Amino acid sequence: MRVLTGIQASGKLHIGNYFGAMKPMIELQEENELFTFIANYHSLTTSKNAETLRQYTLDAAVDYLSVGLDPEKTTFWVQSHVPEVLELYWILSKFTPMGLLERAHSYKDKVAKGIATNHALFSYPVLMAADILLYDTQKVPVGKDQIQHVEMTRDTAVKFNNEYGEIFVLPEHVVAEEVATIPGIDGQKMSKSYDNAIDLFMDEKALQKRCNKIISSSTPLGEALEWEECNIYNMAALFLDAEQKRELQERYKSGKEGYGHFKKYLKELIWEELGEAREKREYYLSHTDEVNDILAMGAKKAKTIADAKMEKVRAAIGL
Ligand code: ADP
Ligand code: TRP
Repeated sequence: MRVLTGIQASGKLHIGNYFGAMKPMIELQEENELFTFIANYHSLTTSKNAETLRQYTLDAAVDYLSVGLDPEKTTFWVQSHVPEVLELYWILSKFTPMGLLERAHSYKDKVAKGIATNHALFSYPVLMAADILLYDTQKVPVGKDQIQHVEMTRDTAVKFNNEYGEIFVLPEHVVAEEVATIPGIDGQKMSKSYDNAIDLFMDEKALQKRCNKIISSSTPLGEALEWEECNIYNMAALFLDAEQKRELQERYKSGKEGYGHFKKYLKELIWEELGEAREKREYYLSHTDEVNDILAMGAKKAKTIADAKMEKVRAAIGL
């Protein structure tokens, strides 16, 4: 099954991204033909300057490779390294009714929030359609907010195929299995915009400091602690199997330990889970040439497919 995912590179990744997006994506590479690209043309819609966009693109590559994206199994590239996608974007524009774009939730949300819009924000779903159709994608794993974009892609592909022949594979969205929303240090959804995130890669001291900031109730030492609603417990539970969760619950109930102990324990869990990723990341950060080679190899594979597809598309429409 050919599965395609697009990564929006937007800075430092946190524990919520790790459990909510990175781990599930990486699991897909085992049983599918996974195509993953860093969507830097898309990021341009929110980019402030060249340096940041370049840096975020490299950071995303390093971080995904570090947590286990395997370039031998997965075709991994930077979107703009296969610029054919922009040619297809223009061609698909002709098959995308204005009304369809005007009904896009993500665009309407931005307008409602008073964000200054521009044509790239408006036509964003057409570029996403090009990403998907260029590579004969069968499945697109997405969050709920992106389902509509995949449905629009199907509509566009059907319209094209009806007029010019069966050129495009019709993709389906797959809503990733409901990943629980990971709480931040204040118990709200962890998000980089709420200043409540625990970043994925920090040094050990900074990580402990961040864990110490997790808001907990103030039960005096010696009394049993509530674990059900405890932010520390809920975060630790992400790393534990059923048996280990029961053990931790017992420790909460025993009254022998305070929140400080559990914050230390949580730090240990995070630190350990990311041990291998941290080592790989250090390696990649000091071997960015290798990262660029991996991305170039991915772009080459992707381009071969894109070129063949574009030849068919151009021939079909008379270009
Ligand atoms: P942020 O809210 O920090 O800006 P993004 O919107 O960039 O995060 O999210 C990138 C990916 O990580 C998305 O697939 C999103 O569903 C996932 N994700 C982000 N925060 C969480 C969270 N707290 N729990 C689960 N998944 C999350
Ligand atoms: N729009 C997606 C997001 O915001 C990223 C993306 C771009 C994408 N092109 C794609 C995802 C194609 C899947 C397929 O997360």
